Amino acid sequence: MEIQIQLQHKSYPIYLGNHTIDKLQAYVSDEKKYFILTDTNIPESLVRQVQSYCKQSTIYKVEPGENSKSFATYKAVCEACLAYGMQRSDVLIALGGGVIGDLGGFVASSYMRGISFMSIPTTTLSQIDSSIGGKVAINLDHVKNIIGAFYHPDAVFIDFTTLATLPKRHIQSGLVEALKAGLIHDASLYEIFKQPDYMDQLETIVFKALLVKKAVVEQDEKESGLRKTLNFGHTIGHGIEAYYDLKTYYHGECVGLGMLYFLEDQKLQEQVKTILQHMQIPVDVPFEISKVMQIIAKDKKAKQTHIDVVRVDQPGHAYIQPLELSEIQALIERSHHEK
Ligand SMILES: NC(=O)c1ccc[n+]([C@@H]2O[C@H](COP(=O)([O-])OP(=O)(O)OC[C@H]3O[C@@H](n4cnc5c(N)ncnc54)[C@H](O)[C@@H]3O)[C@@H](O)[C@H]2O)c1
Repeated sequence: MEIQIQLQHKSYPIYLGNHTIDKLQAYVSDEKKYFILTDTNIPESLVRQVQSYCKQSTIYKVEPGENSKSFATYKAVCEACLAYGMQRSDVLIALGGGVIGDLGGFVASSYMRGISFMSIPTTTLSQIDSSIGGKVAINLDHVKNIIGAFYHPDAVFIDFTTLATLPKRHIQSGLVEALKAGLIHDASLYEIFKQPDYMDQLETIVFKALLVKKAVVEQDEKESGLRKTLNFGHTIGHGIEAYYDLKTYYHGECVGLGMLYFLEDQKLQEQVKTILQHMQIPVDVPFEISKVMQIIAKDKKAKQTHIDVVRVDQPGHAYIQPLELSEIQALIERSHHEK
């Protein structure tokens, strides 16, 4: 399967299926150097396979996890690019989950004012969400994705066989982004999650979620309006993620929690809670509301006292509502247990 992303100044293909990594061969040139950025959890056989398609390449591995989206790691990767003699015509290949995609994309966007990059996402989260749309970023202290750019890859290779080694908790956590896509823009995708054997439809889930993201990003590449709906669940989700030092709960898990507060209909809220429980996503996470509110206030999406939050009134329909911090706090208090 193939999806073409068509933006004003760039278009690129996303290949989905088993063994799509093989398609990389058609994209590499013997004349160019390839900087393969990955992390130490990615199976060596996969890394070597990618390298085998590139005549000139180097492999650079960072530590797994969110801490690698830091200035220190960013600097180290840029230094390694320089040491390998990467020129403007050379290419970075991001092989890994959302951390590698965000970090690698940001390096590519800024090294020598921008070099090409290709993405091979290896987690459900990155296959469904982070590898397309062009948002690349690193974190600054506890503030997530605050330093970044809009920068698109030349091609994305979503290979479902790479998920074989991904721990189940990561698989489920990443799927929350697809549940989110269904809730905001595609009721038929949401319906799949109501089925007990939804995992049998993994490829359809990823495909439909990507179509949602494609439609949104093509209409609003730089997030001036519609694209903000993709942030459904993220305002409070980021707050909880940061409250736990970006360590205890996964990104998708926190987004799942964050969505619950912004579902208007109580019946829908209960239904989504049941789906999340079935996905083994924790739905009763304790936190101190005042501290999470402080983090939210620092969030980059905050405009003075208001934050544009995304609300869903029925599956497949989202809208943006500017809320005061006190109103967000009231929404959390309505259905939350203090730590
Ligand atoms: N740019 C965007 O639009 C966007 C959207 C959503 C999330 N994000 C970002 O994505 C990041 C989270 O992404 P993630 O959940 O993929 O996290 P991740 O990259 O940390 O990967 C999760 C874990 O799985 C391991 N791993 C990855 N692929 C594997 C494989 N095939 N086999 C075995 N282990 C594997 C990693 O080493 C890591 O330990 C966050 O930083 C978040 O901010 C970005």
